[in-house]
Amino acid sequence: MRHLMSPLDLSVEELDRLLDLANDIEANPSRYAHSCEGKKLATLFYEPSTRTRLSFEAAMLNLGGSVLGFSSADSSSAAKGESVSDTIRIISCYADICAMRHPKEGAPLVASMKSSIPVINAGDGGHQHPTQTLTDLLTIRSLKGRLDNFTIGLCGDLKFGRTVHSLIQALIRYPNVRFILISPEELRLPDNIRDGVLRKNNQDFREEVRLEDAIPELDLLYMTRVQRERFFNEEDYIRMKDFYILDREKMKLAKEDMLVLHPLPRVNEISTEVDDDPRAVYFKQAQYGVYVRMALILTLLEVEVC
Ligand code: NCD
Repeated sequence: MRHLMSPLDLSVEELDRLLDLANDIEANPSRYAHSCEGKKLATLFYEPSTRTRLSFEAAMLNLGGSVLGFSSADSSSAAKGESVSDTIRIISCYADICAMRHPKEGAPLVASMKSSIPVINAGDGGHQHPTQTLTDLLTIRSLKGRLDNFTIGLCGDLKFGRTVHSLIQALIRYPNVRFILISPEELRLPDNIRDGVLRKNNQDFREEVRLEDAIPELDLLYMTRVQRERFFNEEDYIRMKDFYILDREKMKLAKEDMLVLHPLPRVNEISTEVDDDPRAVYFKQAQYGVYVRMALILTLLEVEVC
């Protein structure tokens, strides 16, 4: 039985197969409409979510399966003091696979050790968000045609943004990917990723504070929101929250074929006037999230579709 805690749990070859499957699902949805009949997905969300939880549920429903779960810690027995380890033992009796989001780093990993069904990490604190990474990779590969030979700018809250941490780990496995890390001093990438992942693997990267100083070089711009819920105090958040605002003027500095991605939700960091720019692909990216989660569910449940 396999779980998904980090994007590195899949080899590059497995990931290629998963993305191929997601593309086939997009092209031939009816072929997959009954492939998970009789199977259940549990969504255990101890933290707020719109896209991740609902796209997991949509994915299972599109496969003909059913869904159950909770969408906040308050409405589960966590509010009575139940541990994640006990909860997963129970859920293992009710469902065939589960997706868990938790504010504590490592909580899904603890759950996976006690689980008799596959556990998918749907975001653990500021740590990892592997299924967002699968979504990002599918978006990049489908729209750019490749996962190598590009310069990507990661912009915003690189300290707490778990989507950025997972995406960097996944992208260093492809040749000739250059990273430009764009953030205020206080929200720089944590040392364990800068030194432990980028430097350790001799990756080409540099850090910038101003988006204008990086945007002309980029093939991909990955915007992120300042992660309010992970700040220790509100004043720091207020000071940081509008540090970057991508607008039409800044888009004029970018290449004609640069793509703008964002895991969403957006707050102010991308002005709505950018939404109509053909280079803005963040809403398309959310749609890819459904196909890739369908592919992941099929892969972890080892369902063969002929
Ligand atoms: C992201 C997350 O939860 O980390 N959202 C998502 O799943 N698409 C990004 C965010 O909340 O900023």
